[in-house]
Amino acid sequence: MSIETRAQQKNNLRKIFIKTYGCQMNVYDSQRMSDSLSAEGYMMAENIEEADIILLNTCHIREKAAEKLYSDLGRLRIMRKERGQIPLTIGVTGCIAQAEGEEIIRRAPVVDLIIGPQNYHHLPHILKEVEKGIKIVKTDYVMEDKFANLPLPKKETIRRRGVSAFLTVQEGCDKFCTFCVVPYTRGVEVSRSVEQIVLEAENLIDAGVSEITLLGQNVNGWHGKDVNAHEWRLSDLLFRLAEIKGLKRLRYTTSHPRNMNDTLIAAHRDLPMLMPYLHLPIQTGSDRILKAMNRQHTAVDYRHLIERIRKAQPDIALSGDFIVGFPGETDADFEETLKLVHDVFYASAYSFKYSPRPGTPGADMANQIDEQKKEERLQRLQILLGKQQKQFLQSKVGKVIDILIEKPGRHKGQMIGRSPWLMPVALKTTAPVGTMLNVIIEEAKRNSLIGRFQE
Ligand code: 5AD
Ligand code: SF4
Repeated sequence: MSIETRAQQKNNLRKIFIKTYGCQMNVYDSQRMSDSLSAEGYMMAENIEEADIILLNTCHIREKAAEKLYSDLGRLRIMRKERGQIPLTIGVTGCIAQAEGEEIIRRAPVVDLIIGPQNYHHLPHILKEVEKGIKIVKTDYVMEDKFANLPLPKKETIRRRGVSAFLTVQEGCDKFCTFCVVPYTRGVEVSRSVEQIVLEAENLIDAGVSEITLLGQNVNGWHGKDVNAHEWRLSDLLFRLAEIKGLKRLRYTTSHPRNMNDTLIAAHRDLPMLMPYLHLPIQTGSDRILKAMNRQHTAVDYRHLIERIRKAQPDIALSGDFIVGFPGETDADFEETLKLVHDVFYASAYSFKYSPRPGTPGADMANQIDEQKKEERLQRLQILLGKQQKQFLQSKVGKVIDILIEKPGRHKGQMIGRSPWLMPVALKTTAPVGTMLNVIIEEAKRNSLIGRFQE
């Protein structure tokens, strides 16, 4: 028996559970980590109780997300005690791992390994070291390409994950918005190469994936070179991916207004495969606060941008992110946000209370807003956004739309599909996962639609 086969047999006994917190990029990273560990012979545990190795892939964006890690680690400390002699390895990955490093082990000695997002390709090797009883912290910013060193998933794994897949094309951020930890946890903006992205997309589509969402912290800042060394923008990449036979839908997220260039706007008009949905955060409607946030554009710039996008693709559903209670935000500033939301009209949007993050300029600014005020503003903003979402969903009732069947629904004979504007559509059908159907919308729920198949 070769040494490798023996190692695989040994690893076969070890089951891994990865818990993912936060954004879609973490979901993607968790998948890539599990792909690399499967290739080494580890098995994926169905639930946390049966795992021998538990990885917590964390989010650092707001304080609440970080607090969750420590309460989960408290539970894992008890779990390890209850295991007695049976070994349990506990690791922390993701953005808290990057930001806090060995501080996590000081606060929670139950943790055996800490790995930052740029080091996931070292995971199999690190796990072997940890199993010898050594604690490891690896959070360097490496120049080597982690994605090139991570194996692609197997066909059956892709199929199990569904017909819609994420593909990270860009990572990191150089924009340094004064509220945000991302530039510190994910590093500078890096774009993956065209060849790598195409290869990965082909692998996904070959296994049956119909819809790909390109991911990046500043996805519309992605750039690369084609075979003739010509500079490519995200729109060129989208057109290239659309040529792959079998792909039905493309999406991308998250975009920054400053990177929303003419060719990308034109792609929303000229590339039918590109879904009419755009997540384009502005955070606040006040120019004063936009400046304090270092967003590098004004509210009017954003309004003009939206006008151009809507002109290119009138059917587009807009989404955004908002922060209320950034330091110095007055009632008048907040009214500007409400006014902007009112005028732009969002199909869906995320809104948050400002959470001061250690190490970011915003945390040290004077005029921090009290929690009560933040709460009041958040409530008012969410009521307005909720009304807009309802109105958007209602506007689809009576329309015939294309949906992509994704999974079985909760009720017998029911399937859940996805509309072009991202919200789910429930309907009765025997059509299998991956089918595109024309559906007439009969009812709008809070976050979804109810449809009927039209022959
Ligand atoms: N406090 C509150 N919300 C934040 N976000 C990022 N940093 C913070 C913070 N410190 C929000 C922004 C961003 C989204 C991903 O999270 O709205 O667009
Ligand atoms: Fe954070 Fe701003 Fe970069 Fe988005 S653009 S990741 S909010 S620093």
